[in-house]
Amino acid sequence: MATQVIEFRRNHNLQPLNTLALPAKAEYYCRINHCEQLQLAVDFATERGLPITVLGGGSNVVFAGNIAGLVIHIGLDGIELHAQQDDQVQVDVAAGENWHQLVEHALEKGWYGLENLSLIPGLAGAAPIQNIGAYGVELKDIFHSLQAFDIASGKEVTLSARDCEFGYRDSIFKRQLKDQLIITRLRLNLSTRPNLRLDYPALRDAISALPESVALTPAVVAETVCRVRRSKLPQPSETPNAGSFFKNPVVSARKAEELRKIFPGIVCYPHGEQEQKLAAGWLVEQCGWRGKQVGNVGVHHKQALVLVNNGGTGEELLTLAEQISESVKKRFGVKLEIEPRVYR
Ligand code: FAD
Ligand code: EPU
Repeated sequence: MATQVIEFRRNHNLQPLNTLALPAKAEYYCRINHCEQLQLAVDFATERGLPITVLGGGSNVVFAGNIAGLVIHIGLDGIELHAQQDDQVQVDVAAGENWHQLVEHALEKGWYGLENLSLIPGLAGAAPIQNIGAYGVELKDIFHSLQAFDIASGKEVTLSARDCEFGYRDSIFKRQLKDQLIITRLRLNLSTRPNLRLDYPALRDAISALPESVALTPAVVAETVCRVRRSKLPQPSETPNAGSFFKNPVVSARKAEELRKIFPGIVCYPHGEQEQKLAAGWLVEQCGWRGKQVGNVGVHHKQALVLVNNGGTGEELLTLAEQISESVKKRFGVKLEIEPRVYR
């Protein structure tokens, strides 16, 4: 039976499979197209004592060398309407579906809620890992539950939104459940009634600049988000990158106030009642990094939070990241945390 056969490859090239185009090989590699194949892949690794690395679209990973063990590449597909009641729809999405194609498909079907998350690279299965977010919306806002394969027990588990402990670029999958589950399917709560979310300043400004004749629809919001993103973020196919390399640091309201007195131009947003989120791009730019090249790696000229690779290695990139972090720490007393998952 085709679903029971998997091809395991040795020394598989991962450079085309990560958006930073970093050179790396997987000791063993397989692509999974059916959930039933997961147990076979896990058995293969267990029998040989190999660690397992799950790979989606490779848009939030930094490979600083070869990956020992088995890389399981997620190829599961399928998008289905699970339930509909009045204007609420629940949509099931397999982990290997391309995220942006899902957003487009949902718009075509008239299932709304994903517009602000347009053009985020990668696959649906990775979206819960860091609770993807953009332009005022996070995955948690439309998330119902997920199904996953538990590597240790081989059982299927279901996690609710509460179980996932979502936070800003954070979830339980980065903490207690790190590397324990392979996410196979998401269930999303969408709506057939548009509910436009236009609070994010850059989106609000871009929408206000549209001609009055343009009717505001979810499709227009999605197009506008795409336009804003294209104006500042480099396309990985042209300029290899992993999006924001650092998280925006969250500090106490008091620390933000102290900083504002010394640096009146500092960019910060409220984060809950007691905290403020600082724009790391502004901090990095102020330290003089925007547009800088260091050997084969560098900082994007339009967005200082985006590190780019021009033929370098993961180690070179991480050395640059370290230098950037040190200069931000020295100048602002703020610690930057790397956003993508680092494999070294
Ligand atoms: P990968 O890079 O393949 O994997 C990331 C992590 O998730 C790894 O640890 C991997 O092991 C784990 N993982 C992947 N799939 C599974 C699974 N099925 N089960 C268990 N673990 C899994 N992110 C945002 O939040 N907002 C943005 O606006 C945004 N913009 C970006 C712009 C650009 C140009 C780029 C390159 C990246 C951007 N990102 C953004 C980051 C990235 O797109 C997201 O983190 C995305 O969810 C990663 O998906 P992926 O499939 O590429 O994951
Ligand atoms: N800024 C600068 N200089 C720079 C870059 C930014 O001064 O070089 C300032 C901007 O002028 C703006 C502020 O920083 O006032 C914020 O910039 P932007 O709107 O570009 O957003 P960001 O905070 O840099 C975050 C996410 C992005 C997400 C956008 C839109 C993080 C770490 N990054 O970026 O997510 O797309 O907001 O919501 O939270 C990603 O996670 O990979 C990612 C791209």
